[in-house]
Amino acid sequence: MPLDKLICKYDMTQAGYCLKIKEILKNKFGEKIPKVFVKTYGCQQNVSDSEKYKGMLFQMGFSFTDDQDDADVILFNTCAIRENAENKALGNLGWIKNIEKSKPELFVILCGCMTEQENIIEKIKIIYPFVNLVIGTHSAHKFPELFYKAYQKIHEKNGRVFVSEKTDIVPEELPIKRDGKLKAFVSVMYGCNNFCSYCIVPYVRGRERSRRPEDIIEEFKSLVDSGYKDITLLGQNVNSYGKGLDENINFPELLRRLDKIEGDYKIRFMTSHPKDATEELFGVIANSRHIAHHIHLPVQCGSDRILKLMNRKYDTKTYLEKVSYAKSKIPDLTLTSDIIVGFPGETYEEFKETLELITKVRFSSLFTFIYSPRTGTPAAEMPDPFDKAEKTKRILELLKLQEEISKNLCKEMVGKRVRVLAEGIEPKSGDIMCRTDGNIIVQIKAKKEIIGSFIDVLITDSRNESLIGKLI
Ligand code: 5AD
Ligand code: SF4
Repeated sequence: MPLDKLICKYDMTQAGYCLKIKEILKNKFGEKIPKVFVKTYGCQQNVSDSEKYKGMLFQMGFSFTDDQDDADVILFNTCAIRENAENKALGNLGWIKNIEKSKPELFVILCGCMTEQENIIEKIKIIYPFVNLVIGTHSAHKFPELFYKAYQKIHEKNGRVFVSEKTDIVPEELPIKRDGKLKAFVSVMYGCNNFCSYCIVPYVRGRERSRRPEDIIEEFKSLVDSGYKDITLLGQNVNSYGKGLDENINFPELLRRLDKIEGDYKIRFMTSHPKDATEELFGVIANSRHIAHHIHLPVQCGSDRILKLMNRKYDTKTYLEKVSYAKSKIPDLTLTSDIIVGFPGETYEEFKETLELITKVRFSSLFTFIYSPRTGTPAAEMPDPFDKAEKTKRILELLKLQEEISKNLCKEMVGKRVRVLAEGIEPKSGDIMCRTDGNIIVQIKAKKEIIGSFIDVLITDSRNESLIGKLI
């Protein structure tokens, strides 16, 4: 289907439902403003989605609380990427089961990736009968309408609303209540077509679809105008941005257009699939005014046999070539990555190849995960002879090596001048906490008035994974 047919605007109908809900809340709570507790699990995409749910809940007349005991509504934005993420959400639902008896009017909403899994609705109906509304990742733009329908049924037995549709859409113009004042997320695309053999994302988030550049640019400009300084473009694989749009545009071109916007800000993006990271992309970063000299480029592992089984569509040689090309174009580039340890059948020798690769690349930090089988993915069917204890041993070995690399990279920064964003106050020391392009924390002594500005600092010392500096 042409992508413009997928655009679903948050329109007057939904805003109308917000007003209706506001009326109901007024009758029910009087002067008191009811509160929502929002708990987000998983990745930045989920954080960004929660900000949209919050924007709509705010329009309905709710305020927010960090104390779940104090809440009238609880929203869990769930993650399905690994078993432990799922268990966390399920554990918290178990907790609600206990308090639900003393708080029968508590309204419980479940959304996010977990709600898009096969047969999940049936499971929730049986195990968690107190959940009032289940809303899949593809239906967020209809949240007020679905909320209204479910909220009216709050007292009815079996009067719950479950929506887990698989209609790939591009939601636009949703109200957003952002968590920060300096950092913001902007989704540039949704879904994923890559089907890495271990990953559940393509099954729960649907096919790749990009937002129109003009919609992204408008949102981006309004963030810059409102004083946001550190803006991250989000997508499961931003490098395939633009496919299917009427206009012939790719991700480097989108970056070029955003970089032209006047103002004082940094652009970040994640995630970049290595197979689609091109020389054009590295060139745009090198020649830009605003793009952070940092790339998160998940390699996943250092064995060509395992990369093939993972369906990653690159080998270590191409990955290393891309990294050295990027470093030659952007000498102060910081690289970070994701690593999966213990993919089915990965031998110790193959794991060692991962250690070799990270020693060669010298990532500044890593997100490391033990492989978690996800039902419905090809990897979950592969023989997996190594047990959890062996995989845990390996991940500890990896973390130890990475700690050493991060520490050495920080040491090498001493004596350098870097431009950082002053983000806040470190509570213990009262120092100002700043962040480099590569997401490394630098602590400096300075007046709190500098918070929110980009400043030049001299790095004077290093800790394990952070830096000490002074204002120039
Ligand atoms: N098990 C462990 N890690 C996974 N990831 C994705 N799926 C799994 C899985 N089944 C990791 C990958 C990905 C990151 C977001 O999560 O490293 O890049
Ligand atoms: Fe999952 Fe691979 Fe898509 Fe990333 S690129 S979301 S790891 S399938």
